Amino acid sequence: PNYDLVIKGATVVTEGGPRQCDIGITGERIAALGEALEGTEVVDASGLIALPGGVDSHCHIDQVDPQNGHGAESMISGTRAALAGGTTSIISFISQHAGEEIADVFAESLRRGETSLADYTFHQIISDPTDKVVLEDIPMVVAAGIRSLKVFLTYEDAHLTDREFLRVLAAAHREGCMVTVHCENYDAIGFLTEQLLAQGMVEPKYHAWSRPEVVEREATYRTICLAELVDTPIQIFHVSCHEVAEEIERAQKRGLKVWGETCPQYIVLGAKDMDRPGREGAKYMCSPAPRDPANVEPFWDDIRRGVIDVISSDHSAFFFSGPKNSKEVNGTDADFSQIPNGVPGVGSRMPLVFSEGVSKGRIDLETFARLTATNPARIFGLYPKKGAIGVGSDADIVLWDANRKVTITNALLQHAVDYTPYEGMEVTGWPVATYLRGKLSMKDGVVCAEPGQGQFLKREAYELATPRGITPNGFNAAKLPPQEKK
Ligand code: URP
Ligand code: ZN
Ligand code: ZN
Ligand code: ZN
Repeated sequence: PNYDLVIKGATVVTEGGPRQCDIGITGERIAALGEALEGTEVVDASGLIALPGGVDSHCHIDQVDPQNGHGAESMISGTRAALAGGTTSIISFISQHAGEEIADVFAESLRRGETSLADYTFHQIISDPTDKVVLEDIPMVVAAGIRSLKVFLTYEDAHLTDREFLRVLAAAHREGCMVTVHCENYDAIGFLTEQLLAQGMVEPKYHAWSRPEVVEREATYRTICLAELVDTPIQIFHVSCHEVAEEIERAQKRGLKVWGETCPQYIVLGAKDMDRPGREGAKYMCSPAPRDPANVEPFWDDIRRGVIDVISSDHSAFFFSGPKNSKEVNGTDADFSQIPNGVPGVGSRMPLVFSEGVSKGRIDLETFARLTATNPARIFGLYPKKGAIGVGSDADIVLWDANRKVTITNALLQHAVDYTPYEGMEVTGWPVATYLRGKLSMKDGVVCAEPGQGQFLKREAYELATPRGITPNGFNAAKLPPQEKK
């Protein structure tokens, strides 16, 4: 036999489209796609679809975060859920907290990463861009192989002023990083929240009222303008609706390096879910908020046309109940502004997108592979090692049963969080086996990978994160060292 492992009989979703062929794997890589390949081990995958292992480019898994308590999910439980759901690579976050050195949090994040079952890397969050951070820390993380930064335009402890944001964009321009942005207007949300709470409008459903679409649209437009000003490639995180996608499309039509990401919660959940009885609504609270279902079809059109070209999970690890890392940390009668934001979703991401997208006829298999694997790998510098079934790529493959109907339960998803917002939802299509670098890592729901199997994905400079070389007047302040803060 010429190959260590041959997967036979599947419909293989390659970048050139689906084709009927065998996949020959040697060691950790795909060595051939062809007919009648012979392997030391042969897997019969007739009737199944072979898809590139999912790349989930936005998940808060084991994020070192004493203030916001993302610790409900360890690297082990989070990546177990990833493999169970067909995802083989994740990008989590290294946070920056007041009073802590980035180098320390960075070292601790890498240490936790060593327990991962899936391949992994991080986005570096910047919440306080001091001179030291932009001159020393960001170059340090880039040298270590991190090529993306994350900034927040909202949240009390994390949001940046426009001037601070420009300092981060400028550092990213100099270092060749993609900047990912949480676009919501901090002051607008603060103003609305005060007004709502003063009227006694405190239940979870008012979370959505405190941050309507326009709050996200404004921050998206502002972000695009600031990134254009200093010429830095950006990805807008968790776009919730069509009217925000419109801003992104206008920027793309002008040739800017602007990409958009969304998440299953914005195509499956709605603002009404936060209006469930008692505290149930808290399970559906995330930021931006899930919108009106009337938004969903125009939004799918944005996805089909590639305006939004990544669907990640934004897996946010909060338990529903309990004293720590939970939606109840501030008590069971806390007003909406005191309930942590975010929903779990690393394991349900691929099944939900497949079911809503492919099974319902909204997208084809190639588009599914692009949204869940190829595009996130490209945008974050992991392609072609990750994100595609092609010769030379890592043998990260998920075998998918397109006809299998499954009712989602929390137990099936295998994360540590004690609930899923998708409980009881029926999906069509389910992953039946996951291979990570040629090694069987999940079969029929049983995750057989060991902690530590995952590798850190060191990223080099790449084209999509390279500035265009175009700025107003041809003057680019980002090229110069930062002037003293204030
Ligand atoms: O509500 C959300 N999305 N929480 C997680 C943190 C973030 O904003 O991405
Ligand atoms: Zn502040
Ligand atoms: Zn965010
Ligand atoms: Zn997030």
